[in-house]
Amino acid sequence: MKIAFIIGTRPEIIKMSPLMDEVKKRGIDFILIHTGQHYDREMSQQYFDDLKLPHPDYNIGVGSTTHGKQTAVMLDGIEEILSSERPDIILVQGDTNAVMAGALAASKMHIPVGHVESGLRSYDKTMPEEINRMVADICSTLFFVPTEESAINLIFEGLNSNNIHITGNTVVDAVYRNLKIAGKYSDLDLNLDKDYITLTLHRAENTDNPQRLRDISDALLNLKETEIIFPVHPRTIKTLNKLNLYQPLVDAKHIHLMNPVGYLDFLVLLSHSKVVITDSGGIQEEAVTMNIPCVTLRYNTERPETVAVGGNILVGTDKELIIRTVRNILEDEKLYQKMSQAKNPYGDGKTSQKIVDIISRAYENNELKITPPDNIGGLEGRFIQKVEESIDVSGYVNKHPDTRIIVVFDGDKARFPHGDLQLEDKTIIVEKHSIQ
Ligand code: UD1
Ligand code: UDP
Repeated sequence: MKIAFIIGTRPEIIKMSPLMDEVKKRGIDFILIHTGQHYDREMSQQYFDDLKLPHPDYNIGVGSTTHGKQTAVMLDGIEEILSSERPDIILVQGDTNAVMAGALAASKMHIPVGHVESGLRSYDKTMPEEINRMVADICSTLFFVPTEESAINLIFEGLNSNNIHITGNTVVDAVYRNLKIAGKYSDLDLNLDKDYITLTLHRAENTDNPQRLRDISDALLNLKETEIIFPVHPRTIKTLNKLNLYQPLVDAKHIHLMNPVGYLDFLVLLSHSKVVITDSGGIQEEAVTMNIPCVTLRYNTERPETVAVGGNILVGTDKELIIRTVRNILEDEKLYQKMSQAKNPYGDGKTSQKIVDIISRAYENNELKITPPDNIGGLEGRFIQKVEESIDVSGYVNKHPDTRIIVVFDGDKARFPHGDLQLEDKTIIVEKHSIQ
C-alpha cells in the first residue's frame, strides 16, 4: 500500500506528524506532498525540525496569493504528482485550501481520500475553512471524525455512515507525544514564575476586519494586570501594521510580541499559561487537552465540544466582553477550576493508530478502490421507524441485511449508529438497498 500525505500549513504539519510516525513505524510506503502554502521557516521548516519529519518528496511552492489562484495552482500541481505516483489513498487533514485542492484532485482521479478531522462544521459559510471542509468531505471515501457530533454533521449531509469512523483527533496524539520532551528541547526565554496569558490571532474574519482588529487590540491594551505573550502570525503582523496597531502593542509593557515559535516551544508556552486567548482552531483543542482555560475570539466554533465540556468560552471580538471574561476567569476561582478541569472530548492520544488500522483493513479487504456501479437500482430510499424490540444496531443490520441505519434518535439527541447501541424505544432513520 502507498499513502500520499498532502499538507500545506503549520497545523497540518503538526496534526499529520503522529500519523506519519505511525505509518513509518509499520513500514508502510508513503510520500509527502507539501503545497508550500506556508513557506517562511518559522511557519513550516521549524515544525519539520521539531517533529523530526522527513523532507517532503514534493513541494509545489504555491506561496501566498488569492484563494482562487492558490487553489488552482495546488490542484494542477497535485494532479500531476498523483498521476505519476498513483497512491492507493491520499490523506488530507483539516480545512485549509490545501485540503480542498488535495481532496478534489484525488477524487476526480478516483483515488480514495481519507479526511482526517472530518465532519467539523461552524455553519458559517463566510469562513473559507467551512467551504474547504465541506468540499473535502464530499470528495472523501473515509471520514476520520474526532467526535460523535462531527459524525452526525456528516450523516445529516447524507454521507455514508459505514465510512465514518470516530477516532478522536490526532492533535491529542501530538500533544501527548511531544509535551513530555518539549521542556528538554525548548530554549524559549520566559520568566515562567509569573502568571501570563498566551495569545494567538490569525483568522481571516478577524485580521481582515479593521474594526474587529481594533477592538481586540484595545482589549489587550486594557488587560494591563496580566502579562500577555503573543507569537504573531505573519498575516497578523501585516494587518496590524497597516492599521497602525502594531506599535502600540510593542510599546505596551505587559504585552510581549514575538515571531511564531516552534511547536515544542509553543507546547511549553501553552502548558504554563494561566489562560489562552485565541481564534485558532487547533489551539482550542490543545487548550482542553492541556487543561488550560480558553477564551475564543470568535462568534462560532466548529469545535463546540470544547464549549460543551466547559473548557472554552466564545467572546467574539467585543472589547468589553473580552476584558470582562478574561478578568472573570482569572478572579473567580470556581470558574477557573471548572474550566481547567473540563474533560477532553478529543480522544486518548491513540487516534493515529486507529486511523492507520482502518486504512490498512480497508486496503486488505480491497475496499480502497473507486469503481463505477454495476448494479441496477441501488438505493430504494429512506424511512423512519420507531424500534420496539430489544435489539442493538448490529443485531438490526444482521436481521435486515438490505438496510443501513443512518442515525438513531435517543429522545431529542441524534446518535451515531455504533454497533452496540441499543435501539429499543428509539427512532431510527434507515436506508434500504436492493439486493442483487
Ligand atoms: C491558513 C489557512 C487557515 C489556517 C492557517 C494556519 C486557508 C484558507 N487558511 O491561513 O485555515 O488556520 O493557515 O496558520 O487555507 N504568510 C507569510 N508567510 C507564510 C505564510 C503566510 O508571510 O509562510 C502571510 C502572507 O502575507 C499571506 C498571509 O500570511 O498572504 C495569509 O496566509 P494564507 O496561507 O493565505 O492564510 P493563513 O492566514 O495562514
Ligand atoms: N503553534 C505553534 N507556534 C505558534 C503558534 C501556534 O507551534 O507560534 C501551533 C499550535 O500548537 C497548534 C497550531 O500551531 O498546533 C495551530 O495553528 P494555527 O492556529 O495557525 O491554525 P488553526 O489550528 O487555526 O488552523
